[in-house]
Amino acid sequence: MLLLDERRGVAPEADPAFLSDVLAGLAQGQKAIPARWFYDHRGSELFEEITRLPEYYPTRVETGLLEKHCPEVGRIVGAGRAVVEFGSGSSLKTPHLLRAIFPAAYVPIDISGDFLRESVADLGQAFPALPVFPVEANFMGPVRLPAEIAGAAKLGFFPGSTIGNLVPRSAVDLLRGMIDTLGIGAMLLIGMDRVKDEDVLVPAYDDAAGVTAAFDLNLLHRINRELGGDVPIDLFRHQARWNDLWARIEMHLVATADLAFTIAGHRFVMKAGETIHTENSHKYDPRSARQLLAAGGWSPIREWPDADGMFSLFLAEARPEPMAP
Ligand code: AVI
Repeated sequence: MLLLDERRGVAPEADPAFLSDVLAGLAQGQKAIPARWFYDHRGSELFEEITRLPEYYPTRVETGLLEKHCPEVGRIVGAGRAVVEFGSGSSLKTPHLLRAIFPAAYVPIDISGDFLRESVADLGQAFPALPVFPVEANFMGPVRLPAEIAGAAKLGFFPGSTIGNLVPRSAVDLLRGMIDTLGIGAMLLIGMDRVKDEDVLVPAYDDAAGVTAAFDLNLLHRINRELGGDVPIDLFRHQARWNDLWARIEMHLVATADLAFTIAGHRFVMKAGETIHTENSHKYDPRSARQLLAAGGWSPIREWPDADGMFSLFLAEARPEPMAP
C-alpha cells in the first residue's frame, strides 16, 4: 500500500502497480523494471515496428511456420475446439490458425481493451460466422473463461515466444495456470525462439535503425510522464547482451555518466556503467523447450522448427499426470 506522500508528482491516472514496481525495482542492487511496463501506447506501437525489422526474425519465421503447419495442427487437434489466445494483442497471427482448424469459438485474452476491440472487429470481418468472446484480463493470473465455451474442448494459443520473457519459475507458473484455465484434455500451440548464434541474436534486439533502443528508452519517458520522474534520459543508452549461463538475451539501460534522479519523491543515484535491467528473452533448444513444457504440466506432442532452426512451434496436451517411476 502506497502512502500519499509516495505519490508526489504522480499522475492521478498512473497505475499504482507501475509506481510500486519502479520504486522497488530501482531500490535493488541490480536495478530492474518488469518488462510488462514497456507496453504503453507508444511502447506497443514501437513493438509493432520491431516485428517488421529485418533483424527481428521471430515474427517472420513464426508466421511462416503457422502458414505451413496449421493444416497439420488442424488434423491433430480436430474441429470444434474453442481457441483461447493468451495476450492476443492485435491478433495478427491468429487467422492462420483459425482458417486451418474449424474452431467452435475464439476467445482472445488481453489486458488492453483497445487491442481486444480491434481484433474483434477485424476477425468479425474475416470470420463472420465465428463466435468471438473477448476477455479483458491479465493472463498472468487466473482467468475465468466465458460460460458460452464451457462445454467445448479447448486449444490454447501462445505465439511470439512471449514465454521467453519470463524467468523459468514464472514460465512454469504460467503454463500451469493455463491448465487451470483450460482444463485437462486441452491442447496448447506455443511458439518458442531457439538458442542460436550471438551474432544473430544481439542485432535482433539492437537493430541498426534504433527502434529497439527507442522501445527500451520509452520506459524512461513513461516513468517521467506518468510517475513525475526527472530521469535524465539522454544520459542512458540501450544495450542488448547475450547471457549464456541463462540462455537469454538481456536488455539493459546503461547510465553513461554518474547521475541522480527523483521519482515520486524518491531519489536514486547511479554510477557510470551501472544498468537498469529491463527485459529477459530466454531462448530454448528442443530439449530445454520440452522440459519447460513438461515442468508446466504439458506433454509435448509435436515440434515444427523452421529449416534454419531459428524458431519452433510446439503442440502439447494437458494430460492427467501419470505416476512417475
Ligand atoms: C514480446 N517478446 C516476445 C519480444 C521478445 O522478442 O522477447 C519483446 C521484444 N523486446 C525487444 N524486442 C522484442
